[in-house]
Amino acid sequence: MQSLYSNGFEHIYDAMYKTFINYEDEYEFYSKIIDEHGKTNVLEIGSGTGNLAKKFINSHFNYTGLDLSYDMIALSKRKNPKGNFIQGDITNFKLENKVDSVIITGRTTSYLLSNNSVYKALNSIYKNLTSDGVLSFDFIDASRFFLEIKEGKFFQHKATINDMFYNRESYMKPDKQADNFMFNWNATYFKNENGTLVKVTEDNSTVRAFTKNEWEIFLELCNFKLIEFIDRKSYAFDTYVVVAQKK
Ligand SMILES: C[S@@+](CC[C@H](N)C(=O)[O-])C[C@H]1O[C@@H](n2cnc3c(N)ncnc32)[C@H](O)[C@@H]1O
Repeated sequence: MQSLYSNGFEHIYDAMYKTFINYEDEYEFYSKIIDEHGKTNVLEIGSGTGNLAKKFINSHFNYTGLDLSYDMIALSKRKNPKGNFIQGDITNFKLENKVDSVIITGRTTSYLLSNNSVYKALNSIYKNLTSDGVLSFDFIDASRFFLEIKEGKFFQHKATINDMFYNRESYMKPDKQADNFMFNWNATYFKNENGTLVKVTEDNSTVRAFTKNEWEIFLELCNFKLIEFIDRKSYAFDTYVVVAQKK
């Protein structure tokens, strides 16, 4: 798991990602999909620090957030005392009550590194969805993003929050040893302390991109009907959103 998801670094994640991601737009986007299918309750997988949760909690939906990181869950609860959050793994979770929609947000699918973990995730979601339940999630599009990072590419992301300045320097390159479309993401985080950039932490992780065709097959094999792919660029990546329905 990325180092920014625990051990106190979740606060830095929270601060930085609030400037990278427009959670109001995220809410408008996913709530429209859920409303269009007449669903009223939603499970968000990879709920992070509860920024999208806040919008859902203050809406007409019945919301639950699930995340692998205990620290992300603890911070979400502190920020949203009325919210319902549970620690769990996308590949193996069981809710007390089934939900009629599931969203996997913020490219959390990038952590499904093996095909086995994709099947396990889709099977867990299937079991926790009511009949005709809707599943929507985003993924990094390998067919476009890998062309961009083909030779390795540096990216810089800056964020200023309450007079605190953060900087992330990333280097991304396809991992050609891997059995699927994985890439290495080396990131170093800095913050500005009294005019000096100080290193906060470093992350060397491997994450996964997918093609649309892979998801067509995964969904079919796990008994989901693909409804549509929506082309939706996220802050740093070429991204598609999938909308599917339990068969
Ligand atoms: C890039 S963050 C996105 C967080 C949030 N959706 C957002 O947009 O700010 C990915 C999240 O997925 C969570 N995660 C990673 N692997 C997971 C797994 N196997 N099951 C559930 N959550 C996982 C991480 O802890 C992290 O909070």
